[in-house]
Amino acid sequence: MSSFSQNPDAPGAGVLHIVLIGPDEQRRNAVAGALAGYPGGVIREFSSYPPHLDNLSRMLEHNCDVVIVDLDSDPEYALEVVESIYANGSATVIVYSAQANLELAVRCMRAGAREFLTLPLVPAAIADALARISIRGPATHQARKTARKLFVFLGAKGGCGVTTIASNFAVSLAQESCQGTLLIDLGLPLGDAALNLGMVTEYSTVNALENHSRLDASFLSTLLARHSSGLSVLAAPGDFPSGQAPLDAIDKLLAIARQNFDFVVVDAGSRLDLKNSALFDDSANVYLVTQAGISELRNANRLIGHFFASRGPRLQTVLNRYSPQSVVLDDKQIAKALTRPVDWKIPDDYATARRTQNTATPLAMEDSPISMEIRRMARRACGLSEDQDTKKHAGFLGRALHLWKIPSTTPKSGEAQDDPLPSISAPATLGPGHAKF
Ligand SMILES: Nc1ncnc2c1ncn2[C@@H]1O[C@H](COP(=O)(O)OP(=O)(O)OP(=O)(O)O)[C@@H](O)[C@H]1O
Ligand SMILES: [Mg+2]
Repeated sequence: MSSFSQNPDAPGAGVLHIVLIGPDEQRRNAVAGALAGYPGGVIREFSSYPPHLDNLSRMLEHNCDVVIVDLDSDPEYALEVVESIYANGSATVIVYSAQANLELAVRCMRAGAREFLTLPLVPAAIADALARISIRGPATHQARKTARKLFVFLGAKGGCGVTTIASNFAVSLAQESCQGTLLIDLGLPLGDAALNLGMVTEYSTVNALENHSRLDASFLSTLLARHSSGLSVLAAPGDFPSGQAPLDAIDKLLAIARQNFDFVVVDAGSRLDLKNSALFDDSANVYLVTQAGISELRNANRLIGHFFASRGPRLQTVLNRYSPQSVVLDDKQIAKALTRPVDWKIPDDYATARRTQNTATPLAMEDSPISMEIRRMARRACGLSEDQDTKKHAGFLGRALHLWKIPSTTPKSGEAQDDPLPSISAPATLGPGHAKF
């Protein structure tokens, strides 16, 4: 019946995760009834629209391939819901209505809906719509980018070199991978990653986090600055922010960043207060930056023991300002303190670090021992062999830039809020793969 089963690129490739949003019970039941005959579908039903658009990401988490939205209960809001799902690239949207209204259908398509179903549904209408989506290719490729790589740099102690390493790692990653790379400076309140890269930026993380209720891909794009290497940068504010951002806001920023960039690099400073945010979820690659001093190693030991012991290869230790001549502890003692061998040693070269800071030339754009080691880190991170240096061959002009449409949205201030999802009732007895909310 459907071509999903034959198409390896089909959403869900086998199992299709469908969210049905229908405030009107009768119409929702009609659609759910039609879906019940669809093999391999895992269906979640919601009996109301999300109270606010930023509740959508929670509604659609857990592998959502297709969202089917009732238009008639509140057509204007339903259109906003469709637009928001489409803007976030999070799933393919189908809408349904009891009226065959051409004008409404056109508006739905413009908002990003792929299919418009008219009630009463003729048999097989849903299966045909799902099959057409699979033939045209799912819009969920973008959503699948959420699995793209996140690299978080955390210092065992302030001043360990997190910003130096994270910002130059990000430039190297953009250069070496030729893929969309974003550096986010969360080293609040006064992070200096952009300064390290010689950039003057207009907007900052504060604009994103204070307006998280309306944050989406296009809004985020207006806040970014572009480095000559191709790296996009969301800088830290130039002044003290008025309050601390809720973890929800940081989670949302990261989710949108990961949907839209191949690689997201975060300068987390020494911010342990973010340990329960998505920054440190299981998929994040954490680089713990330390130095060979007793207090830095002691802190690193505690951090690994308390938070990162079970992270395996997703934790890498970086020993910065390493100088074999001057270390008091040898490699064995350092490995013992860290409970694991050091993954990366960044040489101590104050003159180079200082010069590049003062001239605002990223280390990554020259060939010093520090930059070569950071480049090796970046090459491994993006799956390239560590020692083959493509930087000289590719040059900036040979590099593919990450193209991201930047609409002319002006950041607006907005109130922070944390709205609940539609109330959840006990799952109905519709059998496995079908839940009602
Ligand atoms: N490998 C290195 N060799 C010599 N100097 C370095 C090296 N790495 C960093 N530095 C210097 O150490 C100082 C602190 O570095 P950086 O600002 O990167 O640390 P940080 O961990 O981000 O600090 P903060 O906690 O203030 O955010 C800077 O002056 C920098 O130039
Ligand atoms: Mg810093």
